[in-house]
Amino acid sequence: MGEVSIDFRDQLALITIDNPPVNALSQAVRSGLIDAIEEIELKNKSEIIILICGGRTFCAGADIREFSKPVLSPHLSEVITRIEACEIPIVAVIHGTALGGGLELAMGCHFRVADPKAKVGLPEVNLGLLPGAMGTQRLPRLIGVKHSLDMMISGKPVDANTALSLGILDQLIEEHPLLDGAISYANDLLNKGIPIRRVRDLIVEPVSVKFFDEYREKIAYKTRGLISPEKIIRCVQSSIEMDFDEAASQERYFFKECMTSPQSKALRHIFFAERAVTKLPDISSDVSQRAIKKVAVIGAGTMGSGIAYSALRAGYGVTLLDNEASGLDRGENSITGFFEHDVLRKRINESGMKEGLERLQTTQDFDSIANVDLVIEAVFENMAIKKDVFQKLDSICRDGAILATNTSTLDIDQIASVTKRPEDVVGLLFFSPAHIMRLLEIVRGDRTEDDVLVTALSFAKRLRKVGVVVGNCFGFVGNRMLHGYGREAQLLLLEGAPPEHIDVSLQNWGMAMGPHAVGDLAGLDVGYKIRQERTDQPDDPCFYRVADVLSEAGRFGHKTGKGMYLYESGSRSPIPDPEVQALIKREAELLGVQQREINSDEIIERCIYALILEGTRILEEKISPRSADIDVVWTNGYGFPRFRGGPMHYADEIGVRRVYEGICKLRDRFGPMYWEVPALLEELAAKDGKFSGL
Ligand code: 3HC
Repeated sequence: MGEVSIDFRDQLALITIDNPPVNALSQAVRSGLIDAIEEIELKNKSEIIILICGGRTFCAGADIREFSKPVLSPHLSEVITRIEACEIPIVAVIHGTALGGGLELAMGCHFRVADPKAKVGLPEVNLGLLPGAMGTQRLPRLIGVKHSLDMMISGKPVDANTALSLGILDQLIEEHPLLDGAISYANDLLNKGIPIRRVRDLIVEPVSVKFFDEYREKIAYKTRGLISPEKIIRCVQSSIEMDFDEAASQERYFFKECMTSPQSKALRHIFFAERAVTKLPDISSDVSQRAIKKVAVIGAGTMGSGIAYSALRAGYGVTLLDNEASGLDRGENSITGFFEHDVLRKRINESGMKEGLERLQTTQDFDSIANVDLVIEAVFENMAIKKDVFQKLDSICRDGAILATNTSTLDIDQIASVTKRPEDVVGLLFFSPAHIMRLLEIVRGDRTEDDVLVTALSFAKRLRKVGVVVGNCFGFVGNRMLHGYGREAQLLLLEGAPPEHIDVSLQNWGMAMGPHAVGDLAGLDVGYKIRQERTDQPDDPCFYRVADVLSEAGRFGHKTGKGMYLYESGSRSPIPDPEVQALIKREAELLGVQQREINSDEIIERCIYALILEGTRILEEKISPRSADIDVVWTNGYGFPRFRGGPMHYADEIGVRRVYEGICKLRDRFGPMYWEVPALLEELAAKDGKFSGL
């Protein structure tokens, strides 16, 4: 059987799309759909058609893999036009998700029904695209301009109930199996003689002239740097101002422009990279997971509470352990606060919160976590303390339990060495705030078992995080690269670039926040303590000099109301501080650094090239198996713009040779201490290679 099959049943023809895993609308599906409609029409015995999908979901959209290949006929728009023109009524039956081209296909059908658990959406914006199979024209005809824009610009799907109340769906089918309910619905349509409804024939409700400009203003900050949102707005505006076909051809033109843009390429790269990281090249897919039901978190501080909350939200039973009763109280209060916040934001209801809190236990007694399946240690970042905790865990925890450390810099093999089961030890590095940040670095020690890694990846998925397996080294992938990036941001201060100029330059380039604003948010004292403990610091008095002087003066950032910037009470908006400017100038004089005007291009080049350089070393040392893994770490944990695809994809895009030449110039200008060119970079540049091809 092909991807599309027909089953003739009395007056009904059933078209089934079966293209695992997500019924993407590949060329075979598209041509199969046209053939199916033609065959049904030719047979001339069906009075109604049901379009349904096999497997776990309705169509997840166009086949994204085809976007980097030559266009294959028929285009999805042609298929949908053909379906809509059919004189036999067609009912789309949705289960799972109808996304992108999948929803566009359903909107081309004459009626739409769905399983109550289904979701529908137009998430193309997440791939740097716009709905390109007339979705920008049909959705406003069904639900109006405002709701359409909200769905297309956010890219977020809506649940079946919302879709029904908005008017995307005609009915929810409670009956099981879904197909039986859909057949009853179709027969009912026939019996009542309900005529075919073509969405293209509906009129879009007009809006005020100001509406679109106000909408642009409203989304400007969130969508800064992205090209497709503006094109979506223009298409939706055209749904009012042009006739259907004219607006559809404009949409097609914009879609092609977006599809061939570096932005869409970068976002598609991240889409596939986030899925690729879940598969480890050197671990067989046969390795089975360990069962995880009960989790213990050691340390009820900010990090521990955030981790415990994430695990509770994912449905695990959680025991929070701290040696101080007051610490446990604070932790429990934080967790309750997180639940309350999520209830307020309607992410969970009151009974979900109650049930979640019932799964939380607190204890000061290690013996009470003897039977858990996974322990995550989140105590103070100090080797002696961590070793002490792991010794206790080793003597108490049941055989086969996974023992994880949340260390952000320490050697996990050293931590594992105090146990008799280093194969069960792994790093699970959460990023603060742990219940919000999507990244989870999974640190593989020398002896970590494959099934521990596979379990950690699946744990990350259940927590709705992106787990990336990395090797063991100082700072692993993310923080190790951050070190070089932050170093340049610091050196630039001494050389004369004010903190706000550095931050704005990088933010305008696409970083979520500037490095100095991030430093104040994380706390300048955190990096200071880490640097103090390291014995392998570079022999350079300028190295993180400004941050160190600020820390020594008690200016830690947000928590003290001043750091690199000033903060008004209760505000997180950084205010440039003339005192800091004077301090930087003084330090530069003391260190003999000549200050000068520095433009944004230099700031961006030095900070981003420092990232790429360290990323290259990480690949050379096989700390990451693939450059895409590094991209996933930086886009999910450090605010690197997704539309630039991550640092390594960005290097590929602008050309590895250009990066190499740029780094050689920086080495010649500033010396080899920080800019020694990695052999891999030289090698790739010489053969015009790319990181992605490694
Ligand atoms: N095309 C090609 N492959 C796709 C795909 C698509 N639209 N959607 C998912 N896949 C692949 C994934 O790459 C993955 O492949 P792998 O197993 O080889 O890694 C596999 O399907 C399973 O995907 P997930 O791991 O993401 O499975 P989940 O169950 O977690 O999620 C999903 C399912 C919610 C459907 C999610 O895959 C998703 O969001 N897909 C993308 C939806 C989307 O963006 N659609 C719009 C496409 S663009 C478009 O339609 C243009 C049109 O307007 C013309």
